[in-house]
Amino acid sequence: MILKHTVSMKNCQVIFVKQHLAVFRVIVTWVMLMLSYGADASDAPIIDYRDRFHPVTSATGMVVSQERLASQVGADILALGGNAVDAAVATGFALAVTLPQAGNLGGGGFMMIYLAEQDKTIALDYREMAPARATRNLFLDDEGEVDQNIARFSHLSAGVPGTVAGLIHAQQKYGNLALSQILAPAITLADQGIKVSNSLAFSLKRAEQRLAKWRSSKKYFFRADGSGLQNGDLWQQPDLANTLKAIAQRGAKGFYEGGVAALIVAEMENNNGLISKADLANYRVVERLPVTGSYRGYDISAMSPPSSGGVHLIQLLNILEGWALSDLGHNSAGYIHRLVESMRRAYADRSKHLGDPDFHPVPVKQLMDKNYAQRLRESIDLVKASSSSDISPGLELPYESPQTTHFSVWDNDGNVVSNTYTLNFSYGSGIAVAGAGFLLNNEMDDFSAKPGTPNAYGLTGGEANAIEPAKRPLSSMTPVIVFKDGKPVFTTGSPGGSTIITTVLQTLLNIIDFDMNIAEAAAAPRIHHQWLPDKIFMEKGISLDTQQLLEQKGHVLLTSPRVIGRTQTIASDGQNTYGANDFRWPGGAAIAQP
Ligand code: DON
Repeated sequence: MILKHTVSMKNCQVIFVKQHLAVFRVIVTWVMLMLSYGADASDAPIIDYRDRFHPVTSATGMVVSQERLASQVGADILALGGNAVDAAVATGFALAVTLPQAGNLGGGGFMMIYLAEQDKTIALDYREMAPARATRNLFLDDEGEVDQNIARFSHLSAGVPGTVAGLIHAQQKYGNLALSQILAPAITLADQGIKVSNSLAFSLKRAEQRLAKWRSSKKYFFRADGSGLQNGDLWQQPDLANTLKAIAQRGAKGFYEGGVAALIVAEMENNNGLISKADLANYRVVERLPVTGSYRGYDISAMSPPSSGGVHLIQLLNILEGWALSDLGHNSAGYIHRLVESMRRAYADRSKHLGDPDFHPVPVKQLMDKNYAQRLRESIDLVKASSSSDISPGLELPYESPQTTHFSVWDNDGNVVSNTYTLNFSYGSGIAVAGAGFLLNNEMDDFSAKPGTPNAYGLTGGEANAIEPAKRPLSSMTPVIVFKDGKPVFTTGSPGGSTIITTVLQTLLNIIDFDMNIAEAAAAPRIHHQWLPDKIFMEKGISLDTQQLLEQKGHVLLTSPRVIGRTQTIASDGQNTYGANDFRWPGGAAIAQP
């Protein structure tokens, strides 16, 4: 018995020890797994196999743009020995051929350049300039009201294009390769033609009426028989190819002087436009100091005025830094409430203080001051929504989905380019320069045509952004480079008019506060608020109970008729680059250098 008991006790003990060992093993395995996940996660936070979305990875550099062929052009330039600036400029010219709704020669934009060797960041301003003959009341009718048709769809709506000057300036000063090498792929794409993609056919269809109004645009953007271009059609652009060849031969002079300039001036003279030979010759690129800020141990370097993007991105981050956002949960009501109240205040400031700094003193330092942010944060009631104003002009976006485009490039030496450029609307004013093959922007609508009257993005403004000769219209474009411990860790940017700033903000928050990789950060649903109209615009994917909680706080919600922004992001862990093109637009690509 005793023995039995002993034996059975022994058996029991063995079983007991075995069970404990098994549990112990499970615990050890689990702890090791967690440790190894943990190690993976902290060593390479961009790739974690538990994530639902993954970026493209490369050991030798990356180009991310909204159109696959153009991304490939940039990656090929990297492979040829070009640096990030060479690749970015080649991508910019290629997009002018392959993404005509936003890629452009006739528009303008901003390029952030980080030069690794010099540890220096440049904010290149190649925004359009108002022609010398532009006047303050250019777009007011006899009753003193803004004539939106003239502001958006006439030759008067075009500012003096800056894109060619900007891209050439960047390449000549900071690139390695010959200009002819940079332009060659775009020329080939225009000469030999591209296959019209489904998304291009769709986009052209939506702009059909606007483009068909002008003989030149009808010739360039339709089939020879006048019907619309279809998915799979071969589309050649010989006039555009000739313009690109002139640029390849003569640099910026190939566009701002000589034959192409003469075509632009003739287009203006025949249609009551304002851009003169002198306006083209006087166009200037400006190298500006980026605006800089810090957020939870990261350093932010973004586009300075005449973009409002960088200033308000940093202002928003300063306000939000005072709350432990990650504790609230991503896209919870508490989180969205804090975002919205911060956005409301930043966009109110935008309407008053922002404009071209060469014409109007912009209180950049004050707006980005952490103490000012604290005051704004303290003015936010965490329980109740505040009210923007009694005046709610409504976000009257143009029917055609507006288009701007962003691209990011990271080369093997750690140089980074973050570029956003635009014609303003999709296909700009819809007016192509006859004989030159490219579209004119309608960026003059980004000015405040009349104080308090909203522009196409529902944005209001006043004196700071009034029309003046040679002034640059205020922009929301927000190319940004984010640094940690002195090294760039990711770059992003987006199209989306007034929603660009809030799109870029949420991308940064998703990465920094919510530990998402850049692909996850792009995919997560976004919200937008811009002070006026006093509404939260939401993408699909914000839960109903979150919406109800927000309504209980007094917010007015609206499911956005279109997606909010489309980012092109690249990150680096110092060894590899990781690229993510936003899933919201088909056809874009993150292309790794082979
Ligand atoms: O500069 C700006 O803020 C506007 N012209 C950008 C327009 C835009 O992003 C349209 N796109 N999606």
